[in-house]
Amino acid sequence: MTDLDLTGRTALVTGGAQGLGEGMAQALAANGARVVIADVQDDAGEKVADSLKGDGHGFVHLDVTDEASWENATTAAASDFGGLDILVNNAGVEITSLITEVDPKDIRTMLEVNILGTALGLKWGLRTMRPDGLGGKGGSIINISSVAATIAFPGIPIYSATKSAVDRLTRVAAMESGKLGYGVRINCIYPGLVPTAMGQGLAADMASLGLFGSPEEAVAGVVELTPSGRLGEVSDMADAVVFLASDASRFVNGVGLPVDGGMGM
Ligand SMILES: NC(=O)c1ccc[n+]([C@@H]2O[C@H](COP(=O)([O-])OP(=O)(O)OC[C@H]3O[C@@H](n4cnc5c(N)ncnc54)[C@H](O)[C@@H]3O)[C@@H](O)[C@H]2O)c1
Repeated sequence: MTDLDLTGRTALVTGGAQGLGEGMAQALAANGARVVIADVQDDAGEKVADSLKGDGHGFVHLDVTDEASWENATTAAASDFGGLDILVNNAGVEITSLITEVDPKDIRTMLEVNILGTALGLKWGLRTMRPDGLGGKGGSIINISSVAATIAFPGIPIYSATKSAVDRLTRVAAMESGKLGYGVRINCIYPGLVPTAMGQGLAADMASLGLFGSPEEAVAGVVELTPSGRLGEVSDMADAVVFLASDASRFVNGVGLPVDGGMGM
């Protein structure tokens, strides 16, 4: 098998200041990529960039819901960091609510960050990576969907809808990229529950909504549904992203890869 070496490639990771994005950035850097952390959290993002293995990494402020911010971040990657070969559209938000209680403001927030943010990432990623772009070398885009796009789990109706949208965006964008000769593969992963800030918050919310007796029972309920018998870890998601970023996945295009221990099968 072709190795997972990413030497000479530049990766931009949205939401890279903490959680899964931080782990993905560390794994991409460990495999040789130059990594640009892109997040709304400036201090935390800078800190992660400074902590990465190897040289040449950096931070750029990015609000994924803002078009000008995307233009600035992708231009910075291509001009100041040597190109743009890998884009991980990881930034996301989850606001738990039963469908009968959902607040339109929260719906809009999730639509904006999870769908608009991913769509703008695809737009500016492709514009930069395609042959006439500032990067111009093609590459790989990995969108972060969720197991919530593949199963019905109570308490996350809007979040699940937005992650299903990420799945469709992935496939149509991969088709357009192929048809138009952009040289960019586009895939997504469906992570299972990982106890990051978001994952722990979700378990606590499930208990508050009365769906489980306690956050621990919510976690046990997820593990019970998972053939591998445990929660996901940050490194599980990071390794899948490295695979999809690398030449080892060169003929993998337009797919959604479950990284959920079998929960969504
Ligand atoms: N943790 C899980 O269990 C889990 C499971 C499935 C999918 N996911 C998905 O994985 C991704 C990362 O999740 P996480 O658990 O690390 O979450 P997290 O809340 O720990 O981190 C999210 C990151 O996104 C950033 N962010 C939020 N809004 C942004 C914006 N407008 N522009 C730029 N950055 C923004 C935050 O600052 C933060 O650094 C999300 O898309 C999430 O939906 C997580």
